[in-house]
Amino acid sequence: MDHRGTTAWINLSAIRANYLRLVELAKGSAVCSVIKADAYGHGALAVAHALEREGAPYCAVALAKEALELRESGIQMPILVFGVPEHSWSSIAIRLGCAQTIYTEEHVRILASAAKSVGKRAKAHIKIDTGMNRQGLPLTKAKAFAGLLTDYPEIAVEGMYSHFADADNPDPAFTNLQMERFTAALAEFRKAGIVPKYRHIANSAGLLFHPETRLDMVRPGILLYGLSPAPGLALPEGFEPALTLTTSIVNIKEVPAGESISYGRTFTAKRRSRIGLLPIGYADGYPRALSNRASVLIRGTRAPVVGRVCMDMTMVDLTGIPGARAGDEVVVLGGKSLPVSEIADMLSTIDYEVVCMISKRVPRVHIDDNMVKE
Ligand SMILES: Cc1ncc(COP(=O)(O)O)c(C=O)c1O
Repeated sequence: MDHRGTTAWINLSAIRANYLRLVELAKGSAVCSVIKADAYGHGALAVAHALEREGAPYCAVALAKEALELRESGIQMPILVFGVPEHSWSSIAIRLGCAQTIYTEEHVRILASAAKSVGKRAKAHIKIDTGMNRQGLPLTKAKAFAGLLTDYPEIAVEGMYSHFADADNPDPAFTNLQMERFTAALAEFRKAGIVPKYRHIANSAGLLFHPETRLDMVRPGILLYGLSPAPGLALPEGFEPALTLTTSIVNIKEVPAGESISYGRTFTAKRRSRIGLLPIGYADGYPRALSNRASVLIRGTRAPVVGRVCMDMTMVDLTGIPGARAGDEVVVLGGKSLPVSEIADMLSTIDYEVVCMISKRVPRVHIDDNMVKE
């Protein structure tokens, strides 16, 4: 913990338990743990090591640089890079034994030339765009792309995948359509003699709501962290939130009625009040939009945020918690008592963004069950 006391506690036992729950749901499909963006803010290295110890067979990141950091820390499990290959990083990814995503002729050329320069075949997963319309090969180009690949023996197609756009929607129509398109693309590649070891499409919501989409591998991210894939969606039994962001009261100030708090004077005390100063602000990933809206947890009681959240500091009203003292621990978000989803709802966003927002300057401390902060 650094001197400020503002810390993101990550319960690795919860992540391991969530992973084992995912293995149960996957019913024999390999679970590819999505640990991009520093494991959704949970600390990718510690999370990857915990998963590897649990026997996790595969993981995925967004960038080759993230894969490099994992390998440098000793991670040995196969890694898929979701981002498109790029000249300088492609040969590094091949040396690291990572699979790379391809879906254009340019990607094929980059991978093939990197493979030649390294002297090793490049592992590739072909990304099919089945309706997300973000990245991937359209179904109409599947036949031509399969033909192209036969000219490049330097590329070993290990996987083919796509990504659901709407798998949390109770109406399955679009997910079914994406599945049909994916199946058709797989058939085109099969005709050209390309039958990858791993066909995969299911994210967390896919795994939960469309078990028939499991195929050879599933790619859950948010469920690993015990968070929800969509607003208002309660998780099944057995998933537990892994992250709790805490800080402490560094100062308490008594203010008379009529005094205003923080920039822009957006809060005025209606009574004599005890105002607690917390060393956390929007530069830590506690957004200014939470000003006068969110509350924190002190000694088991909620204390409202008063006035504007500043860059490094936030003020809370402690008047309703007479026992509160400087040095008291403050739960800012996470765990079971102040769910990430509560903050996400306030910000009109999703759990994913709230945990990814916690900035680099907040130390991540990885702990085990018996030390969990609630
Ligand atoms: C390609 C891909 N697969 C899988 C995932 C994991 O999704 P989720 O966290 O919803 O399970 C993501 C995350 O955005 C992704 O981009």
